Amino acid sequence: TGMFTYDPGFTSTASTQSTITYIDGDAGILRYRGYPIDDVAEGGDFIECCYLLLYGDLPTPAQKEDFKTRVTRHTMVHEQMTRFFTGFRRDAHPMAVMVASVGAMAAFYHDSTDITDPMAREIASIRLIAKVPTLAAMAYKYHIGQPFIYPRNDLDYAANFLQMCFAVPCEDYVVNPVFARALDRIFTLHADHEQNASTSTVRLAGSSGANPFACIAAGVACLWGPAHGGANEAALKMLEEIGDAKRIPEFVNRAKDKNDPFRLMGFGHRVYKNYDPRAKIMQQTSREVLAELGRKDDPLLEVAVELEQVALKDEYFIERKLYPNIDFYSGITLRAMGFPTSMFTVLFSVARTVGWIAQWKEMIEDPEQRIGRPRQLYKGEVERPYIPIDKRG
Ligand code: CMC
Repeated sequence: TGMFTYDPGFTSTASTQSTITYIDGDAGILRYRGYPIDDVAEGGDFIECCYLLLYGDLPTPAQKEDFKTRVTRHTMVHEQMTRFFTGFRRDAHPMAVMVASVGAMAAFYHDSTDITDPMAREIASIRLIAKVPTLAAMAYKYHIGQPFIYPRNDLDYAANFLQMCFAVPCEDYVVNPVFARALDRIFTLHADHEQNASTSTVRLAGSSGANPFACIAAGVACLWGPAHGGANEAALKMLEEIGDAKRIPEFVNRAKDKNDPFRLMGFGHRVYKNYDPRAKIMQQTSREVLAELGRKDDPLLEVAVELEQVALKDEYFIERKLYPNIDFYSGITLRAMGFPTSMFTVLFSVARTVGWIAQWKEMIEDPEQRIGRPRQLYKGEVERPYIPIDKRG
């Protein structure tokens, strides 16, 4: 029985060194490569954010254009992938389809899987950023029984995603620029968050030298859980269940009751113990989208704002430093744009793909990189004599 530090949930263990994302949970600070999240989200766009996370610096206009072209050239998926999709039941959760289809990319792109070759790593990175939105839109179209819509390379990243999801053949579809901007911002805000559960999963999977597409599929699988990326879906379902501001106290009391497993979804964070800086920008974006729709008084937004107020004044939440997190507001915004709740975590996976790849690349290129191999404290039986089956019972 070795002498290892016991740290369940890794609350005090740094699994890696990293230069990508900085978080100060107490101060409510999040920075990508040193730039405050507000500036990255408000000043630039998601393509610029991807470049920043992957290569470490903001791109010049020429670098940005070149990067955008490279991503755009890879947005199509192999036609055979459509047949892979049609093997699923239509009512399959789109996240189940994502885990499988992102993993299936490992079988389609053998030429970008030699992780010792920097060019292969680069192509795998670009392919993932470019193709994951296409797969996500396909998962949505398949789910609702509509034909797949091809990517349009004249559109920006988020606008293209909206048209792949909402355009239908033989009908004109014009992307709403307010929605495109909001989605672009949602992608930027979710792009990376240092060593969260799914990113740690990608690193651990990658530490064995596994195929990069398979590693990202592992990240998608981890993200699915309601304590992580599944929270935006869970938060919206909860708001719908509450339905009316009058019922808020009942739900708040349930969240405080230790005999009731119910938690306020979209509240609390392992790292942010004062406020989530992304939640602030997200709340603003949420209002912009609802204003565009002329639904300034969406009943769900009212429930959300009221719930936030009630919880922020409640001793229980104050003592435990539980504040609304980003998923609290992103759900409302995505719903207003027309996405069903089952797609929320899928959208998160589209955004986080760049963070996973940047972290995977950083790990592979780190000279100190070794296979991730946690130890344990063994609590089972000590050695005992084996009893043959005819002597038992
Ligand atoms: N509602 C009610 N009570 C809560 C909540 C909540 N949402 N979150 C934490 N608590 C309580 C918890 O019961 C515990 O109380 P006590 O000390 O009396 O036993 C205390 O606060 C500390 O909670 P914890 O579970 O030890 O905290 P954690 O850091 O392990 O968990 C969390 C963080 C995000 C998993 C948790 O706050 C939670 O389950 N929140 C709801 C789900 C959610 O919104 N998740 C999204 C996270 S952000 C996006 C992402 O990472 O993908």
